[in-house]
Amino acid sequence: MCGIVGYIGSKSVVEILTEGLRKLEYRGYDSSGIAVATPEIKVYKAQGKLQNLEEWMMQHADETKNATKGIGHIRWATHGAPTTVNAHPHTCNCGKLVIVHNGIIENFKELRVELEKKGCTFQSQTDTETVAHLIAQEFAKTKDLTEAVRIATQQIQGAYALCIMHQDLPDVLVATKRNAPLLVGIGDGEYFVASDIPAIIEHTKRAMYLNDNEIVTLTRDSMSLIDIDNNKKEMKIETLPWEPVALSKMGFKHFMLKEIHEQPDVIRNVLSGKIYNVDEPVSLKEVKLTDADLKNLNRIQIIACGTSLHAAMAGKYLIEDMCSIPVDVEASSEFIYRKNVTDANTLVIGVSQSGETADTITAIKQSKEKGSHILIITNRPDSAMARLADSLIPVSAGIEVSVAATKSYVAQLISFYLLAIYMAEIKGTASVEFLKELKRELVIIPQKIEQILAHKDDIRKCAKEYSSYKNFIYIARGINLATSLEGALKLKEISYINATGYAAGELKHGPIAMLDETMPVLAILMKGSVYEKILSNAEESKARNAKLIALTNSDDEKLNSLFDNIIKVPDVSEILSPIIAVVPLQLLAYYIAEYLGKDVDQPRNLAKSVTVE
Ligand code: F6R
Repeated sequence: MCGIVGYIGSKSVVEILTEGLRKLEYRGYDSSGIAVATPEIKVYKAQGKLQNLEEWMMQHADETKNATKGIGHIRWATHGAPTTVNAHPHTCNCGKLVIVHNGIIENFKELRVELEKKGCTFQSQTDTETVAHLIAQEFAKTKDLTEAVRIATQQIQGAYALCIMHQDLPDVLVATKRNAPLLVGIGDGEYFVASDIPAIIEHTKRAMYLNDNEIVTLTRDSMSLIDIDNNKKEMKIETLPWEPVALSKMGFKHFMLKEIHEQPDVIRNVLSGKIYNVDEPVSLKEVKLTDADLKNLNRIQIIACGTSLHAAMAGKYLIEDMCSIPVDVEASSEFIYRKNVTDANTLVIGVSQSGETADTITAIKQSKEKGSHILIITNRPDSAMARLADSLIPVSAGIEVSVAATKSYVAQLISFYLLAIYMAEIKGTASVEFLKELKRELVIIPQKIEQILAHKDDIRKCAKEYSSYKNFIYIARGINLATSLEGALKLKEISYINATGYAAGELKHGPIAMLDETMPVLAILMKGSVYEKILSNAEESKARNAKLIALTNSDDEKLNSLFDNIIKVPDVSEILSPIIAVVPLQLLAYYIAEYLGKDVDQPRNLAKSVTVE
């Protein structure tokens, strides 16, 4: 979603802001802008790629070169089209007050009507401009920017991270947040404001996270913190657990391909320190429930969105299979708008790559109020969601730049395997031999993925053959139903091809009507309990002239005559097959999108962190 960077200090601000925005751009955006104090406030905006803004700034280098305070923004449009005029920063009528905003102001229409009655003229269709006018009205009364922000934000409903400056106060920058991430980086005679760590980590590792409804006031040599009710707040300075990251593709054409290739090492990383020896129980100190608590659980509720939701679906299968506890999985956006039946005997698991997904955060907060233990599985142990956790399992996949999640999905899957084995060992709900065998096989999974990657050219050829089709169905059963949904989502989001994951047994209850030679069917045909059933569903599809692709670990000769293409993967037990099966589907989606010339790493309309509902 949108990204914010702010700076007050003695260095040239334009470079700091543009570099900061560059570090956030992988999250997805459609326009960008910068405002600097020269000391007159000057605003520069551009539609499209960040490069357009950088070129625009170069043309104005002379007028901005001495500026040492400013705010910057990359926008992912919510209210108003992605045009230059709707790009941030937004100003009040006189142009002296300027703000950048992440989030959504829910009551902006009512506020706008009131402000128009008071004589404010609006330039854009955004909700954000309302806040600029609102703060400016309050500032006119007191000439105190912090107080103006405090009174104005009392009138706002919704989510926001805001960074604000005013021309009349050359030594002041103010920032605040509610239900959207924001942190202040602390340097030597300088402060940074950012919506995420990569924007500032090259400058400082000392930082303060803002809590909801806190307002920070920064000058070049001071920082003070109050809350919306004007109480002074304690400032907790942390050391960020990050090293500056070079967002490098390491010779790969796209980050997505690089991240797919990182998966074997990511799995080794997630497993490290968890399985020492197959004869010993899995070590998962991150789970803070006692053995008695675990035995008393009567239900598990998993909440997540998108790809993380698919990992959660596989997780449900694993936990129910090994631990005999009922598990419900629901999309966070559905969960939060109905009666919440979680309680103190429910373990609530939130899954999120970014740890900032607005709907999942709301769902977690609701369940926390019900007294449920909250376990978070995330790739961002520094995120808002992680900070709500009673138990935190960091998936350690490393920064994922490509908008389409790949290595974080596999890392989430591995975390679910570890959690299910851990709980089964405590509860005694699965045979010791079965769990030993599972652990033995889990640790060699990375080598099997390496074998798939070594044969990626076969998948590339298959991708080329299928790249002109407009619709696909991916069918599977059992634990790989989640894999079919995830494979289809990957294809949809980066190639814009209509792909649907479907429970193979449901095919004849409707979707089979669509099948003909224009609709390829990809069957996830892993050896095990549902192999023969899926084979029958593939036969039914063949009878409707669909082109058939098998993704399989079987050597069965008869597949050669049934399927048009076979993507072969190394042998693996059924329960572990989702980790293996998803990799060729990631590659297939990647190569189709690449072949079609799509913007693989930053697909249109998508953002890496979905921080609005
Ligand atoms: C797809 C993808 C999204 C995210 C979803 C949830 O490749 O990445 O579907 O999985 O937006 O985001 P997180 O996992 O950050 O909560």
